[in-house]
Amino acid sequence: MQRTKVKELLTGAEVGKEVLLKGWVRTKRGNKFVNFIAVNDGSTIQNLQVVADAEKFGDEALKDVTTGAAVSITGELVASQGKGQAFEVIANTIEVLGKADPETYPLQKKAHSLEFLREIAHLRFRTNTFGAVFRVRNTLAFAVHKFFNEKGFVYMHTPIITASDAEGAGEMFHVTNFDLDNLPRTEDGKINYEEDFFGKATNLTVSGQLEGELAAMAFSDIYTFGPTFRAENSNTARHLAEFWMIEPEMAFYDLKMNADLAEEFIKYIIRYALEHNREDIEFLGQRLVEEDKAKPQNERQEMTLLEKLEFVVSNNFERVTYTEAVEILMNSPAYKKKKFQYEVSWGIDLQSEHERYLVEKHFKKPVIVTDYPKDIKAFYMRLNDDGKTVAAMDILAPGIGEIVGGSQREERMEILVERMKSVGIHEEDLWWYLDTRRFGGCPHAGFGLGFERMVQFVTGMGNIRDVIPFPRTPKNAEF
Ligand code: 4AD
Ligand code: MG
Repeated sequence: MQRTKVKELLTGAEVGKEVLLKGWVRTKRGNKFVNFIAVNDGSTIQNLQVVADAEKFGDEALKDVTTGAAVSITGELVASQGKGQAFEVIANTIEVLGKADPETYPLQKKAHSLEFLREIAHLRFRTNTFGAVFRVRNTLAFAVHKFFNEKGFVYMHTPIITASDAEGAGEMFHVTNFDLDNLPRTEDGKINYEEDFFGKATNLTVSGQLEGELAAMAFSDIYTFGPTFRAENSNTARHLAEFWMIEPEMAFYDLKMNADLAEEFIKYIIRYALEHNREDIEFLGQRLVEEDKAKPQNERQEMTLLEKLEFVVSNNFERVTYTEAVEILMNSPAYKKKKFQYEVSWGIDLQSEHERYLVEKHFKKPVIVTDYPKDIKAFYMRLNDDGKTVAAMDILAPGIGEIVGGSQREERMEILVERMKSVGIHEEDLWWYLDTRRFGGCPHAGFGLGFERMVQFVTGMGNIRDVIPFPRTPKNAEF
């Protein structure tokens, strides 16, 4: 007999038929006459209730059917008489494929804290919360590809090992096969990278953008979707050392077209998740409502998760320049009452408290901030005519802060070389990047969406460690 997934069984299409289901026991309860076994196979947040006649099976046959055990069950799918489910299975055979000792299995019925579940990340997929989170993550990843594919973008696999620092922030993990206890040195005592595997110093990429730009100069529209790595020592709820980024790059786009595409993209993937994972998102929203009950009134969310997502997909994002954003901040009650920890003045890098003020207090919706001072942005961003700002854009989301960073690129050779010089990047190291300006360069633009921050936004999870299966953060690379 062919196995049917729980999601399919719960549609009722096979009612009256003998079915085979496999999955993991979530709970077993019952009395002298009958046992109710809730089985979940990850296809949906719903469990399938299996009814096992106590006399038919006997205690011995059911003793290993405990929370966490893997089971294979046959029986008839029937309309349920009980409350809470439309369909259930009346068991004919129950086979325990893998036991889970109730004395040691860590996931018992009681609710566990997210912190505890992080320590058993190998098992947390089996909880309702993480089941929902990772099904939503999967849907969002699929929607990313669907969106760009429908628009005729070419999916480009950019390298993970590279010798360049795209963001110029120096936050890179070295890649080497040197024996670290016995490093080859040059005569002046420096490490001799010529003897290293690649014949030069290499690192894990912080972004696929530079290579993405090369491909955009042939395919017009490309995107990358891959892992990126940053050795920044930020132990926050929004930073990972290994995270996934989506980076579209488009020839013949200016900043406005770039921002329009980013807004359309974000709305598309949220809408796709709302359509395909409604139950999961409803469950996660309920979780937040429960969590909020423990908080003082003024810290509670004004909208439920579903309301927030519906609002975002049906309203325009706000658009302001950096200069306007700084003015808003300096005229804010928070600034006047000295509520900001960090100084605000033209030229500062907006801190997360400033970004959150703008989106959560002032505009109450996602905001696209453009035209930042050149000194706080990467070398590749196009210099504006004022000579002080660049055609940059960051998209800030409620509860998250920066979710997208992007820009129109500097396509003018002399200005680009000048910018590189001023930040200490050698022309020889990026000769191939400069070649695209030399040969058939054109105005172009792109952006990067932090995938985990997007998943956080859609699931409402407060900590980025809870939206990637196995988070890599400072002092933590378990599993
Ligand atoms: O703003 P960033 O650094 O931009 C770039 O890397 C550009 N090369 C993108 C481009 O124009 N093609 O990073 C882009 C996004 C951020 O807005 C944020 O959402 C996410 O990547 N991000 C992180 N997410 C998790 N952990 C970190 N440490 C992150 N650093 C950036
Ligand atoms: Mg950024």
